[in-house]
Amino acid sequence: MKEFLKHHPWQIIEEGFDPHYHTISESVFSIGNGQMGQRANFEETYTGETLRGSYVAGVYYPDKTRVGWWKNGYPEYFAKVLNAPNWIGLDLRVGKHVLDLAVCKIEDFRRVLDMQAGTLSRSFVATLADGKKLRVSAQRFCSMARGEVGAIRYAVTPLNFSDQATVSLFVDADVVNKDSNYDEKFWEEVYKEASAGCAIVTAQTKKTFFHVTTAMRYAITAGGQPVRIDRTDIVEREKFAGNEVTFNIEQDQEVVIYKYAAVLSSENHAKDKLVAASKEVLDGAVRTGYDALLEEHKAVWKHTWEVCDITIEGDVAAQQGIRFNIFQLMQTYTGKDERLNIGPKGFTGEKYGGVTYWDTEAYCLPFFLSTAEPTVARNLLIYRYKHLPKAIENARKLGFTRGAAFYPFVTMNGEECHNEWEITFEEIHRTSAMAYAMRDYIVYTGDKAYLAEYGLEVLIGIARFWAQRVNWSSEKNKFVILGVTGPNEYENNVNNNWYTNYLGAWTLRFTLEAIDYVKGAFASRFGEIAGRTQFQEAEETTRWREIAEKMYYPEDSRRGIFLQQDGFLDKEIRRVSDLRAEDRPLNQKWSWDRILRSCFIKQADVLQGIFLFEDDFDMETIRRNYDFYEPMTVHESSLSPCVHVILASKLGYKSMAYDLYLRTARLDLDDYNNDTEDGCHITSMAGTWMSVVKGFGGMRVKQDTLHFTPFIPDQWTSYSFRVEFRGRVLKVKVSRDGVETRLESGAALEIMVNGAAVSLK
Ligand code: BGC
Repeated sequence: MKEFLKHHPWQIIEEGFDPHYHTISESVFSIGNGQMGQRANFEETYTGETLRGSYVAGVYYPDKTRVGWWKNGYPEYFAKVLNAPNWIGLDLRVGKHVLDLAVCKIEDFRRVLDMQAGTLSRSFVATLADGKKLRVSAQRFCSMARGEVGAIRYAVTPLNFSDQATVSLFVDADVVNKDSNYDEKFWEEVYKEASAGCAIVTAQTKKTFFHVTTAMRYAITAGGQPVRIDRTDIVEREKFAGNEVTFNIEQDQEVVIYKYAAVLSSENHAKDKLVAASKEVLDGAVRTGYDALLEEHKAVWKHTWEVCDITIEGDVAAQQGIRFNIFQLMQTYTGKDERLNIGPKGFTGEKYGGVTYWDTEAYCLPFFLSTAEPTVARNLLIYRYKHLPKAIENARKLGFTRGAAFYPFVTMNGEECHNEWEITFEEIHRTSAMAYAMRDYIVYTGDKAYLAEYGLEVLIGIARFWAQRVNWSSEKNKFVILGVTGPNEYENNVNNNWYTNYLGAWTLRFTLEAIDYVKGAFASRFGEIAGRTQFQEAEETTRWREIAEKMYYPEDSRRGIFLQQDGFLDKEIRRVSDLRAEDRPLNQKWSWDRILRSCFIKQADVLQGIFLFEDDFDMETIRRNYDFYEPMTVHESSLSPCVHVILASKLGYKSMAYDLYLRTARLDLDDYNNDTEDGCHITSMAGTWMSVVKGFGGMRVKQDTLHFTPFIPDQWTSYSFRVEFRGRVLKVKVSRDGVETRLESGAALEIMVNGAAVSLK
């Protein structure tokens, strides 16, 4: 855990430059707008350790798989959202010396992510090797109002000299992915153009042939007037186009360099129109000017915060944490484009390839259900509907038949990309995350007709998968599921992971209910779906019912707990609190073999199931399982603490809920798991939101009614949040004096607060 960032309710602040933290800060201070995103790399030359990263949504490359021992069924490639052409580049030379923070003496360094305004700012005083001192203050943003525009304001003031300065302003498509499996470069040049004041590069990805056009223009001013330019050199080389501009800088006079960029992809424009379109976008941005662009960008953020802000009084660290999580989520996925999804690292790093995991359905969906129009969550479901043929193909590749659908663990276009057998083949619970997401969506929105439109077809495919994946154990006289990995990836190839068995059986029951509903309410549509899926209703539903009824669930009746898997109690049961600090995180300190044999749990597993199906269990059962599993959980997946917060809140374990909340909310800010440099944990940020709203706020939807059973952590004086629910916006404020609920928009509504009905008008 590191605590180098200052606490502030609306800003993330780093004071003083410590290169050791730089790659962490590059992740934390990332900015984006759903269409493009950018790590907090320095605009100017930096020869120290850095992970350069500019990303364009939906643009990926199928990097050839690399594994030790090839296993049949492995995917051929791992899709990666690519490090895209660099649009921020702005190198500065004064006299003979290049401004490089790895080389200069740095004072007064300050980096600020302003979450209210959506801007990244940085200021410092640098002393060059010849003693010349200059102050730099830079600011940039990816426009939320114009998804293809980025803008930079870079101000330089010489403090003890006047001299000639040369600034290089460019677009560079000669970029690499750090995680490239074979050190391959993924971009090829298609077109470039450079003239005084402007540069454009169109690059194409190999194999997938996406085109990205990156165009830039600039203005250099002093006192609001253009500076006198002594020289402009056009610089072009492979995949690179720019200008080198030389001018005089005078002591104590601020020179401001504005750089405007347009980043367009063939996902949104015809390839042959990209260059022209980029010029248009860029012209529009330049005409509008930096200040006005910034104002419209801030206006979008203002509106976003009005709907989804959570306020916490009396605890700045907690307040900063939740806003940081919401900010990152909102700048990763805006829900405008149903082809896009939410990568676990969003636009903040390369790890996990920027592709889609079960994280979206299990964690992000509830967040978007409550903070955005229902179409946003619906788009996330439809994304998976569109991948159904690929899910069927994935299953077929592994030997499943008859239209069984096995959704991938990791995907870009529906095809499986993951290639570790214990996850690719064994972490099968993920295919039912799609079914649970439908249930979540229907419970929240009441839009049951979704089942007829899209849902049932997906459910039939998934149910067929489970029906083939189980086998009958004559020993147990039950159906069992062998050779799996549960959500806890620190145990592989186990038999009867309770979570997997529970979810599998539930999916079959849910599918049977969906069939009855669609048959009753949309008979002709049912006929269509049955025809298309070649559904043998009587035969298939009989088997599904039988499996659901006779599923085996490992339990320990003496302890009154569900067992994570058949052999769990053969393990030496230990507590995380007995581990030495130097052993953590286990995944960086212990051999894999040692981890597998230990009882330590990476992330909620049995407790994940209890969280999803809490109404199936009485409070004492929940408590016994929580008390058994929580002490063994190391939370080395970011997806874990939030689930524990929600259950701890339900059980009244207030201080534990609060500690775990800080862990999820400040996971990246304080680098709890020593991995923030790879990127921020975007998908689990939705879990942080759930910790407050479902955990502390106790929000649930039961029989079409919103319920709240809030409590307030001792450290807070009050907190408040808003939720969107069936055309209304509600505000809930919890303070030491009680709970206030208010209807901010929409028709009157009855809700339940601590078990009592409250009418909101
Ligand atoms: C977790 C998975 C998760 C993935 C991406 C892994 O560490 O164990 O459950 O899907 O990260 O967030």
